[in-house]
Amino acid sequence: MLRLAAAAALALSLAAAPALAADGAQLFNMQCKMCHGGSPMGPSLAGVAGQKIGEGTFAFSPALKNKEGVWTDANLDAFLKSPTTFAPGTKMMISVPNDENRAALVAYIKTLK
Ligand code: HEC
Repeated sequence: MLRLAAAAALALSLAAAPALAADGAQLFNMQCKMCHGGSPMGPSLAGVAGQKIGEGTFAFSPALKNKEGVWTDANLDAFLKSPTTFAPGTKMMISVPNDENRAALVAYIKTLK
């Protein structure tokens, strides 16, 4: 019985790391895709990792358009944690308060090409 529980715990911890982007995909589909999946409500996020902030054909708010820098992991994390703190006046209102969910989302965003 005890050995079974240990084996189950091991299986869980092994599954955790590579699942990060997969978890992110699931979160993205639930919380982001309605605006960032080809909808006019939000910009495409394909290739956004490493790209200049607020760059592209979308009608970005001045808050993002005039924001210096590129979308590093840290900037993506800060924006998702509190968009209006990172870029006061941004049109994106959704925030992701959970640290693990943000990490999973950032990992997933980096797979969008
Ligand atoms: C209700 C629509 C909506 C939802 C839901 C939404 N966003 Fe956004 N997002 C926007 C809009 C609008 C912008 C542009 C904001 C601006 O111009 O200030 C944006 C901008 C962004 C940017 C910056 C893009 C760039 O090219 O600079 C990222 C990254 C982003 N969103 C990620 C996410 C993630 C991850 C989620 C899910 C947790 C999400 N968004 C959910 C509407 C949304």
